[in-house]
Amino acid sequence: TAAEKDGYDWFMRKEIFEQPRALADSLLGRRTPTGELQLDEMRLSDDELRDIDKMIIIAAGTSFYAGMVAKYAIEHWTRIPVEVELASEFRYRDPILTQSTLVVAISQSGETADTLQAIRHARVQRSKVLAICNTNGSTIPRESDGVIYTHAGPEIGVASTKGYLTQLIACYLLALYLAQVKGTRYGDEISQVIDQLEEMPGHVQTVLDRADQVYALAQEHVGTRSVLFLGRHAGYPVALEGALKLKEIAYLHAEGFAAGELKHGPIALIEDGLPVLCIVPPRGRDQLHDKMISGIQEVRARGARTICLAEEGDDSITPYADAMIRLPNVPVLLQPLVAVVPLQLFACEIATALGHDVDQPRNLAKSVTVE
Ligand code: G6P
Repeated sequence: TAAEKDGYDWFMRKEIFEQPRALADSLLGRRTPTGELQLDEMRLSDDELRDIDKMIIIAAGTSFYAGMVAKYAIEHWTRIPVEVELASEFRYRDPILTQSTLVVAISQSGETADTLQAIRHARVQRSKVLAICNTNGSTIPRESDGVIYTHAGPEIGVASTKGYLTQLIACYLLALYLAQVKGTRYGDEISQVIDQLEEMPGHVQTVLDRADQVYALAQEHVGTRSVLFLGRHAGYPVALEGALKLKEIAYLHAEGFAAGELKHGPIALIEDGLPVLCIVPPRGRDQLHDKMISGIQEVRARGARTICLAEEGDDSITPYADAMIRLPNVPVLLQPLVAVVPLQLFACEIATALGHDVDQPRNLAKSVTVE
């Protein structure tokens, strides 16, 4: 009913707008009075975690893209090698698992059959399994050695939004916790990142306050048949997630690419007027940002209509952007939290304009409980 949707037309839109609160809830109570990071539902001991020498993240759908972002953060902060794999592939390829492998299963519902089968396989091989899950008491956390619950609240829209953002938070917390336990990062640095995480609900709110701009852009693209997304570094999985959202609810052909791969194929797809959404990394000491700009120049020179998501104050991109969506200034590893939000809004608005049932897209289920 309309009341349950808080006046929004769709649960999905309501859930997009709930994200600042969902993020804040997922961060609540994670610091001890002395400033140490604590994960109270984590049932693995610090000793067990110190022994971990490899991690494998397994998930499906949107949760898989959260896992891809997590890899950047975990490897950077902890120096533990991380693989990210689709649950449906993992189980059947005879993966190398030992007692010092930590398998992290990310699942909003906690019931996805492929992910469940994958953790069962990992446990038989005596690996430790940690679940990141939004559903209390669901099967995956029950069958895991530990769990980090996200606090998104029930997610009703089939296409995951607040589930994804809170999974990212859980992944960052896990990465920082491992860095704390392993001593790969100093306490000051860890608390500085937690401070930055605590600013994210406000930043996401800033993006939401400008939703009308994104809706207007979406309206301009209702007739389009195909949309490409470009990203690099942590923005690459965001490009994949942006494309997935459009497929799921707008039934549009959409693909995400790593900007550095353009010359290896995707650039051949560019034709006049093709919309390309580009996630521009924050300006920094490295070459990431400038390389992204040259990728954008290249697709635009071939006729693409570039819609650039770039941080506030980044004017270097203006000459090559047919349209611009501004993002708050945040570190590159945390940028997915703000960059994905306009992509969610974009997909939701196009799907609505096309007259689709956004909350229950054709052929899809909220939770896929059969393999
Ligand atoms: C389905 C849903 C997606 C979700 C995926 C994984 O495909 O439609 O929104 O991302 O399952 O679900 P999980 O509950 O394991 O995160």
